[in-house]
Amino acid sequence: MENVKRKIWILSFSLGLVVIVTGDQKTCNQKLRCNECITAHPDCAWCNTEDFTGSRCSTVDDLNNKGCGDMSHPSNQVEFLQDDSLRNGSTSHDSLQLAPQHIRLKMKPGEKYHLHMKYLVAANIPIDMYFIMDFTTTMDRRIQQLADLTQELIDGLKQTFTTNIQIGFGSFLDKVVQPFTLTTAKRLENPCGYPPCGSPYAFIHRWKLTDDVDGFISMIRNSNTSANWDPMEGGLDAVLQASVCPEVIGWRNQSRRVLIHISDGGFHFAGDGKLGGIDRPSDGQCHLEPLNDNSGQYSYTQASNQDYPSFGHIKHVLKENGINAFFLSVSSNIKIYKGLTDFIGSQADTAEMDNTGAYKLIRSISEFYTALSSKLNIAAVDIPEDVSVIAETNCSTSRVESTFDLKKKPIECKGLQIGTLVHINVTFLVNECPVNKDEKKILKILPSGLQESLTVEIEYICDCDCPTSEALDEQCSYGNGTYECGVCRCHEGRSGELCQCNFGDESDVTVNEQKCKMDEKSSTLCENRGTCNCGQCFCHKNYDGKYCECDSSKCVYPGTSQKCTRIFQPFTCRVQKYNYWIMAYVIY
Ligand SMILES: *[C@@H]1O[C@H](CO)[C@@H](O)[C@H](O)[C@H]1NC(C)=O
Ligand SMILES: *[C@@H]1O[C@H](CO)[C@@H](O)[C@H](O)[C@H]1NC(C)=O
Ligand SMILES: *[C@@H]1O[C@H](CO)[C@@H](O)[C@H](O)[C@H]1NC(C)=O
Ligand SMILES: *[C@@H]1O[C@H](CO)[C@@H](O)[C@H](O)[C@H]1NC(C)=O
Ligand SMILES: *[C@@H]1O[C@H](CO)[C@@H](O)[C@H](O)[C@H]1NC(C)=O
Ligand SMILES: *[C@@H]1O[C@H](CO)[C@@H](O)[C@H](O)[C@H]1NC(C)=O
Repeated sequence: MENVKRKIWILSFSLGLVVIVTGDQKTCNQKLRCNECITAHPDCAWCNTEDFTGSRCSTVDDLNNKGCGDMSHPSNQVEFLQDDSLRNGSTSHDSLQLAPQHIRLKMKPGEKYHLHMKYLVAANIPIDMYFIMDFTTTMDRRIQQLADLTQELIDGLKQTFTTNIQIGFGSFLDKVVQPFTLTTAKRLENPCGYPPCGSPYAFIHRWKLTDDVDGFISMIRNSNTSANWDPMEGGLDAVLQASVCPEVIGWRNQSRRVLIHISDGGFHFAGDGKLGGIDRPSDGQCHLEPLNDNSGQYSYTQASNQDYPSFGHIKHVLKENGINAFFLSVSSNIKIYKGLTDFIGSQADTAEMDNTGAYKLIRSISEFYTALSSKLNIAAVDIPEDVSVIAETNCSTSRVESTFDLKKKPIECKGLQIGTLVHINVTFLVNECPVNKDEKKILKILPSGLQESLTVEIEYICDCDCPTSEALDEQCSYGNGTYECGVCRCHEGRSGELCQCNFGDESDVTVNEQKCKMDEKSSTLCENRGTCNCGQCFCHKNYDGKYCECDSSKCVYPGTSQKCTRIFQPFTCRVQKYNYWIMAYVIY
């Protein structure tokens, strides 16, 4: 007996499967409005022809076969607003590494757009190298060594990369507030005791970026060191100011910006300011003001009023200003710098300087620069929630393509040579219409540590553009609706194909109940999943279709067990009752 029962169930289960596979596969057909139709699936088209009978929402082929002469079936559009070709740097023009630079996309939900993006590892990119140096007295020897070897560093970079190099520098100590610095009158004049030294300060920008290497060297030699009190320094204040004051520092727009922080101490960060009674967080603005000695030097004026910046804040300003940061430290402090640069990511690194002389320091700087130019790191910012951006590339070095979901991780390539062209296939997809369909969204694709970007404007195709007319004849019940795309769109409070029904009017509400029955002989209206109003079903949440016969939560992609996304739903929606077979089987 048990056996027989089992056979029956197996049989019914198999039948159930057959029914499911061959079951009532509705395509675009449930959609009753042009805008719902075209956004339901990329293949759905809408027939605008006035006297068309049958389902207006279907595939292009189907509508053609049925003699529809006027269809709405918009597809994605692209406009290249700026697409200058890539080039190496030269004396007459800057390099250009990323193309295109600006596009406008009109996107229909569910339809992918593939963009061919190119990245050239350009030769001859100008370099701007700004040193931020700890000028406490323990740094004296290193500072002199750097001055001795600067010419060598520049010559090396010129040989390998570009003749177009600018250097500059600034020096920092710490906030002139206790306990960071002793602030008795005597100590403010000479914090060192004997031998004496100059007054303390937080950060002074001393030498603007120029190609005058000799001037840079003599400026370093002529700047005196000083002292603060605690072992940590105010280097992050200096990094922040150097990043957000492009005019003062002299950063150029099309250069590779490199900031080199050299210190034998640790650093203070956000929160430490409280020790000195400073509660206000750093505002991230430029606060460099000229010193009043006509020296062309600038000092950071808000050090005693604003706290040190946080790691996150430093990361943000470096990214925003396309600055690469390199921190040189001694072994006892290397961990804390490593923590900072790991947090910042691809745009920053740390290395150790030893006591054997500055050659290692020079070598580390060249290596940092070489590493920067041989890797590519492209991230995206401001991707709207309903848009996905996927990039594919073989980085020009591998046979296999790698895929990067730009919402989660940046595109990365390593080991690139100067002159290499990297091809990247970027696929954009709008998943669904946003609440505000007319809103334009702007996202950016940014290579890290460069001042270049691709701006992508996204507009949505969520409406049909057939003309709307006030139908004043019987067409849409004498002005109770507007006529568009072959059908009436009823005014508030009206319903029915011709807007002939009035909500709230009992006699109207029950009219044409027959039209709400999926099966003529049945007594259920709208499959019990909606209300029938004047011959039209108004479905409850999650139900769809002319008779609310589709259950979005139960829909399965045909031929698979995969749950379909909203986009596929109109293709796969089927009458839900067949699913009961499976449920019954599972329960059994
Ligand atoms: C640096 O110190 C020397 C001697 O201690 C002094 O003569 C010189 O004026 C100082 N330089 C600056 C820029 O303060
Ligand atoms: C550099 O870029 C900034 C911001 O994009 C712009 O305001 C400035 O005019 C540019 N400077 C030059 C010299 O092109
Ligand atoms: C990488 O892809 C490009 C085309 O995008 C192709 O020309 C090149 O041969 C590929 N590289 C390798 C090593 O397969
Ligand atoms: C850029 O320069 C490199 C090496 O100097 C060269 O191989 C490459 O072809 C150049 N590319 C363009 C686009 O000029
Ligand atoms: C980009 O990728 C898509 C899908 O992976 C592919 O269909 C398309 O041909 C590719 N386009 C280019 C230019 O490689
Ligand atoms: C709407 O339809 C009613 C009849 O149902 C008619 O009396 C009325 O004039 C129509 N127009 C407007 C604008 O209400």
